[in-house]
Amino acid sequence: MEAMSSIATLLHSFFLLSCLFFLANAIPKTHHHDFVVQSTPVKRLCNTQNAITVNGQYPGPTLEINNGDTLVVKVINRARYNVTIHWHGVRQMRTAWADGPEFVTQCPIRPGESYTYRFTVQGQEGTLWWHAHSSWLRATVYGALIIHPREGDSYPFQKPKRETPLLLGEWWDANPIDVVREATRTGGGPNISDAYTINGQPGDLYNCSSKETVIVPVDSGETNLLRVVNSALNQQLFFSIANHKMTVVGADASYVKPFTTNTLMLGPGQTTDVLITADQTPSRYYIAARAYASAQNVPFDNTTTTAILEYKSAPCPAKGTSIRPVLPSLPAFNDTATATKFSTSFRSPRKVEVPTTIDESLFFTVGLGVNTCPSGANANTCQAPNRTRFTASMNNVSFVLPSNFSLLQAHHQGVPGVFTTDFPAAPPVKFDYTGNVSRSLWQPIPGTKVYKLKYGSKVQVVIQGTSISTAENHPIHLHGYDFYILAEGFGNYNPKTDTSKFNLVDPPLRNTVSLPVKGWAVIRFVADNPGVWLMHCHLDVHITWGLAMAFLVENGVGELESLEPPPADLPVC
Ligand code: C2O
Repeated sequence: MEAMSSIATLLHSFFLLSCLFFLANAIPKTHHHDFVVQSTPVKRLCNTQNAITVNGQYPGPTLEINNGDTLVVKVINRARYNVTIHWHGVRQMRTAWADGPEFVTQCPIRPGESYTYRFTVQGQEGTLWWHAHSSWLRATVYGALIIHPREGDSYPFQKPKRETPLLLGEWWDANPIDVVREATRTGGGPNISDAYTINGQPGDLYNCSSKETVIVPVDSGETNLLRVVNSALNQQLFFSIANHKMTVVGADASYVKPFTTNTLMLGPGQTTDVLITADQTPSRYYIAARAYASAQNVPFDNTTTTAILEYKSAPCPAKGTSIRPVLPSLPAFNDTATATKFSTSFRSPRKVEVPTTIDESLFFTVGLGVNTCPSGANANTCQAPNRTRFTASMNNVSFVLPSNFSLLQAHHQGVPGVFTTDFPAAPPVKFDYTGNVSRSLWQPIPGTKVYKLKYGSKVQVVIQGTSISTAENHPIHLHGYDFYILAEGFGNYNPKTDTSKFNLVDPPLRNTVSLPVKGWAVIRFVADNPGVWLMHCHLDVHITWGLAMAFLVENGVGELESLEPPPADLPVC
């Protein structure tokens, strides 16, 4: 009897313990990392460059967390440039101080200084990434941020056997900071890159690159998850795998209604999670990416980067032979039809709550421009066509970053003179945006203007591409938010007829929309995150030229609807 009851007690405490264990497992974790930004010799394309890296790694470290976890990343700047790190796509609820864009939410971390980014990732699952947000440093300073479901939760799709992040990048056989400085000095376009990369490696089709080509292993019959990120600076990319279809299951850390495709198209900033099944003859197949170049007469890097999908049971190539894996067929560089078919295939997995009563109905034109040089100007600094300098704008304002305060600090401390709140809700004049735009409309006005939003306001933005100077596809990214993409189309947005195209049932939730060339897109979000949030084209050359604006979202009522106080180590200018 006695023995029986002690067994019962034992069983009981075992039960309690396992409950506790289960609970402990579901408790969010805090992950601490040190990011040392430093100059590192990196050999690519037969030459060595002193690249700026994090912890000597290129690409930088992959961070893996669970939904609900907190990241504490101490960034120590041992490089000779100012730096900041942006956590691309992280909502940063109330923690705008940790968002990272230089002079927007913080002043840069000076050489020799450090700053600790602290934030919690809540309600987002899938693939995001982090990158430098200062000049063109993100060319080499970037890495994946993988958000797994909460412990105990599963994916809304078949559990993959393996998971592989594939970061697509762009490599210059030069110092990218010199490339952007030269472009800024001359006013012309920057030099195009010399290679694209997959996880930092150009792959077999480039000189001196085949030994390091990235291998993605698979076993026959497995279904694996590939997390594809476009971390290139200035180029939209097509992505394909020979003989294998891909099932898209997520994008920008939101799940999507699965669909199958042969080709992905990602604008810089965008991520796409795909499942692939190893159902082909055991062998080696190329994974390849190359440009989707939507603009006419704009030079671009037309090379192709590859990695190899390798079946573990693939027969070894006989000694002395060099049988190349099969190359996938990639769309033509200007294949807008394929890009559009892909971008418009996204749906949320189920019915979502799209804001319907709109408080702020905004119309933003986005595109390039040119500044005419004054007659006395040095010709060397006016090297865009016809003695001009390239520029870019939103609603005819070419965005200029402040240099003495960050916008968020200035807002928080009430410092006058750093920005104005008159960013226009619509362009100053209406014109045929995608037609043959009169030369008198080519020159925007520089300014540091924000658009104020009341906490909780429901916002719609019609983003309208222009064909000023050249029309092209622009990956438009909003910090601090995910937005629903209701519709997109070509030509000028027509409020009378195009509203009928709105998907108010299951539109995709994203942080970057690929704005069609000579076209428009309509997005909606609720301004529930106070702070200053940059919206910009994710082609770095266009940010450099001013294709950006910022929303200033006011605090709501009480602490939970207000921005947290700034961290004590926030860098000051
Ligand atoms: Cu991924 Cu403002 O950037």
